[in-house]
Amino acid sequence: MSRLIHADCLKYMKSLPAHSIDLILTDPPYNIAQYSTGNIPLPGRSALNNDIASWDTIPLEPKDLLVDFKRILKPQGNIFIFTSYNLIGRWHEIFDPEFDTFQFFIWHKTNPAPKIYKNGFLNSCEMIICMWNRGHTWNFTAQKEMHNFFESPICMPPERLSDPKHPAQKPVRLLSHLIKIGSDPGDVVFDPFMGVGSTGVAAKLCGRKFVGCEIDSVYYKAACTRLQNMV
Ligand SMILES: C[S@@+](CC[C@H](N)C(=O)[O-])C[C@H]1O[C@@H](n2cnc3c(N)ncnc32)[C@H](O)[C@@H]1O
Repeated sequence: MSRLIHADCLKYMKSLPAHSIDLILTDPPYNIAQYSTGNIPLPGRSALNNDIASWDTIPLEPKDLLVDFKRILKPQGNIFIFTSYNLIGRWHEIFDPEFDTFQFFIWHKTNPAPKIYKNGFLNSCEMIICMWNRGHTWNFTAQKEMHNFFESPICMPPERLSDPKHPAQKPVRLLSHLIKIGSDPGDVVFDPFMGVGSTGVAAKLCGRKFVGCEIDSVYYKAACTRLQNMV
């Protein structure tokens, strides 16, 4: 079962019942477009999108999400949130005092965008903050599964949509890994910033229910089509 909503999640979340969500797995805007020096031309390829998108320029305030995230999450629930270096401090300041545990997890991209001038590190890692309270769902059987690190390529065709192109589409393989660790089959996974629905695809593949919200109508429709096409 999937429920997809075309709305501003800050408003939509108010309608979700208390303790109705097992896992919040989400990828909100990073607000990194403000540091862009412009898109980068690449020889023989389309330019590298450094400017991200207009939605990334709207400031995200972690404090605006705290009350509803805590209210809708079940006591044994987990929260996994993608973020970046510029917002990690704000997430920690607001969320760490409210949960028993605040950790981070790294996604290492094996095929990051190149830096043709070799003037800095590749942007090959993304951070996911992970929060929970004692008694949370946690599906590990061996220490070797418990590294806070996962390697996978960035989304490539055919998984990567070409129309619409979403500059931040996340790989289903990574999302499935997180869903399996932090929830049980039949649980409800919620993604308030779902983009083109990658968390929903992963939730469905993992046998979880999904609730997703997206403010942009083009991305929302793409998410609906993607999930419908899975049958
Ligand atoms: C980083 S992208 C998520 C991409 C997603 N993980 C995927 O694989 O497609 C963040 C998304 O949040 C959406 N968004 C921004 N503000 C929102 C809001 N207040 N409510 C719902 N969606 C919002 C943007 O339109 C954008 O698609």
